[in-house]
Amino acid sequence: MEPLIRTARHSDVLMMTRDIKASWGKSFEEDLAEQDAGLHSCFIAILKGEIIGSGFIRWAGPRDEVAVQLFPEAPEIYRLEVRQEFRSKGLGTKLIAAMEAAARDNGRHSISLGVDYENPRAYDLYKRLGFEDSELTEYYDEYLYPTVDGQTATARDLCRYLVKQI
Ligand SMILES: CC(C)(COP(=O)(O)OP(=O)(O)OC[C@H]1O[C@@H](n2cnc3c(N)ncnc32)[C@H](O)[C@@H]1OP(=O)(O)O)[C@@H](O)C(=O)NCCC(=O)NCCS
Repeated sequence: MEPLIRTARHSDVLMMTRDIKASWGKSFEEDLAEQDAGLHSCFIAILKGEIIGSGFIRWAGPRDEVAVQLFPEAPEIYRLEVRQEFRSKGLGTKLIAAMEAAARDNGRHSISLGVDYENPRAYDLYKRLGFEDSELTEYYDEYLYPTVDGQTATARDLCRYLVKQI
């Protein structure tokens, strides 16, 4: 059966909370409020009542301060994730295609994303889909995460930034 790919609605919050990893310190209600405000759109892939993949496209452009200077008009795909057992079946490609179509409908001519140097499989996928290396070959993606002792720590992943003309 083909998964249904669409943007998330407020009525999806319970399903999202159950099936998707949230950003640390941020609820899906907040994500959807930001969607209502036009900051981003959250795409979900639904199969038999479960979310098996998801991704955000950030209309405000790249989150990184250098990337946004370089590519202010290129919405950023981020928080892209396909549930483990559904990987390598083309779903990540379909989620990216859906976000790309939304960007085109929005009058955009490019999309962008950052990828960790330790994630060569995702990098290869993006290259196959037409993303190209940009001059931003090294930057740190920083995000908060909970430590085992209940504290909050900041992770810094070395990434490269890719752009695709659409
Ligand atoms: C990166 C990620 C989103 C890709 O999603 P995916 O659904 O596996 O992607 P696709 O299936 O479209 O493409 C990936 C692979 O499947 C292959 N593929 C594509 N369509 C296929 C199909 N119909 N049948 C079999 N294989 C297929 C591709 O050739 C590719 O090959 P690989 O397994 O050698 O890499 C997923 O692996 C993931 O969630 N990873 C963990 C989180 C993450 O790294 N997110 C990205 C952060 S930048």
